[in-house]
Amino acid sequence: MQTILALSALLPFGLAASSKLNYCSLLGPVFPPPIQLSDSPDFIAATKDLSAILHDAIHGTSSLSSMFKSNETSFTLQIFSAKDESALFESYHTSQAVQAYKAGVKSIDENTVFRIGSASKLITVLLLLIEKGESAFNEPVAKYVPEIREAVAAMRSNTTQQRDAIDFLNWEHVTIGQIASQMSGVLRDYGFLDLAPMISKPASSGLPILPKSEIPPCGTTSACSRTEFFRGLMAGHPVVPAGSTPIYSNAAYQILAYAMETMTGQSYQSMLSKNLIDPLGLKGFSYSAPSASEGIIPDPIYWALNGGGETPAGGLYSSTKDMASIGRAILSNRLLPDCIKRRWMKPDTHTGSLEFSVGAPWEIYSYTKDSRVIDLYTKAGDLGGYSSMLALSPDHNVGFTILAAGVGTTEAVAGLSDVVTNAILPALEDAGKAEAKTKFEGVYKSSQTNTTISISTDEGPGLKVDSWVRDGDNMFTVLSAIEGSSVNSVRLYPTGLLAPGEISFRAIIQDLTASQGIGPITRSCSSWELEDGKVYGNIGIDEFVFTVDSCGKGTGLSPRAWRDYLVHQH
Ligand SMILES: *[C@@H]1O[C@H](CO)[C@@H](O)[C@H](O)[C@H]1NC(C)=O
Ligand SMILES: *[C@@H]1O[C@H](CO)[C@@H](O)[C@H](O)[C@H]1NC(C)=O
Ligand SMILES: *[C@@H]1O[C@H](CO)[C@@H](O)[C@H](O)[C@H]1NC(C)=O
Repeated sequence: MQTILALSALLPFGLAASSKLNYCSLLGPVFPPPIQLSDSPDFIAATKDLSAILHDAIHGTSSLSSMFKSNETSFTLQIFSAKDESALFESYHTSQAVQAYKAGVKSIDENTVFRIGSASKLITVLLLLIEKGESAFNEPVAKYVPEIREAVAAMRSNTTQQRDAIDFLNWEHVTIGQIASQMSGVLRDYGFLDLAPMISKPASSGLPILPKSEIPPCGTTSACSRTEFFRGLMAGHPVVPAGSTPIYSNAAYQILAYAMETMTGQSYQSMLSKNLIDPLGLKGFSYSAPSASEGIIPDPIYWALNGGGETPAGGLYSSTKDMASIGRAILSNRLLPDCIKRRWMKPDTHTGSLEFSVGAPWEIYSYTKDSRVIDLYTKAGDLGGYSSMLALSPDHNVGFTILAAGVGTTEAVAGLSDVVTNAILPALEDAGKAEAKTKFEGVYKSSQTNTTISISTDEGPGLKVDSWVRDGDNMFTVLSAIEGSSVNSVRLYPTGLLAPGEISFRAIIQDLTASQGIGPITRSCSSWELEDGKVYGNIGIDEFVFTVDSCGKGTGLSPRAWRDYLVHQH
């Protein structure tokens, strides 16, 4: 009978140490989310590095200094987890310029109120999901917005409009879901930032002088009324056909909020109080401007600017503490059932950039760590001297928020977000691995079937099955026979399925020496297509379940198709 054969002996020399290996893990976490981050040496080291980078940025000696003017831009940063009520890391920088601001605070902290710009869109969809789940996503927006219903009716009886897709959006088929995920094709804004009212001498700018009827009467200094908004919207041109490609639109979100008000019979403001501000006890979050003494105010005009119907697209106010509370509440399913959150936190469309996808209204950045992809679900926002970012990593149950005020805040928030992402995502992976190592590493044995499985962690993702011998048989050989191809790697990944005292994993069973492919089809991982593909008596050979004690430490392991239960040896 065969003796225990360590997997490494099957691999060509040096292969195990290569970082180029494609482990082909599934989308999603490769370790259970870390829960003891405040004690994690990996995370603590990352926050030390981050502090040093922020210190250098503030003192003008880092690569960030081209993106961030320390004397003119103030910012706050909090990193938080679903588990911890207090921030895992926080940083507040008040620029020198604040001393010259005519109103507002002179020193910023977690309670200072900022405008969050388009991060408001995330709140709008959150409210919709709390109120209605996703049931409305496939409904036509015309069902809930009378002005759009009229446009649909007008087009039905007007062949000029039907034939002219360049000038007329076919509203009939535009859905709530397309609006939420920026797939409606509708124009970006009506009135807001239109150059016509802002350029005092068009002729000297190389622009023609427009008749008054073509200059938006609203949207720059005063909000458009609902009538003005729809008149302008319908006269404007669509950008692309609905459903073709994401095109960012503030106007679409204004329409979404009108639809939500009809759908729920409530005003946006009461939905906001009922579903978010009251349940989470938010003190620095509001629809209208709070007292100036609460806020940082680079420009009183933008602080007070009432966006009217466009507020749900970009006008809300928040403190850093409240943004973190909202992020935590999303991660911990406090506001939405887990099933809805899982569907919501997925892309709805790609963009022209491989690492950038779009949800409703998530801006999803794919970060590659070793061979695996970590998706960061974010929403950023800008409004006259303010920028914001809320970013969540569902794989780790961790997020961060950055609010900035002053000059060049868009670049500052983008640059700071990258700095935070680069610092913490690898550390979160490492922290998850370190926790998994303490909980699951070791030898598991069954004397009944004389089976031994040895589990470890290494430089790769997931739990590595080092060896697996059952009654003298090397199971890698058995798996090779079952798969009909060489198996030299068995790694276990959490599925997210839990039962009392149990945590489920699935194995990726593969040949790590296989060719890396010659094009998109052979290069892409097919593991998601192959999971649960080989079953024995209706149980996948890749199904593994750990039993765990009250601290989450593995007490036993079952390779379920074999009907074995192995006890963790100490
Ligand atoms: C900030 O620093 C820049 C460059 O050193 C300078 O031009 C600018 O006037 C400073 N702004 C303030 C508000 O101090
Ligand atoms: C059809 O629509 C066009 C463009 O809006 C408009 O000019 C025209 O008057 C409409 N025709 C009828 C019959 O309503
Ligand atoms: C269990 O298997 C090992 C080889 O893997 C063998 O040496 C040992 O004798 C077996 N024990 C029993 C009780 O069969």
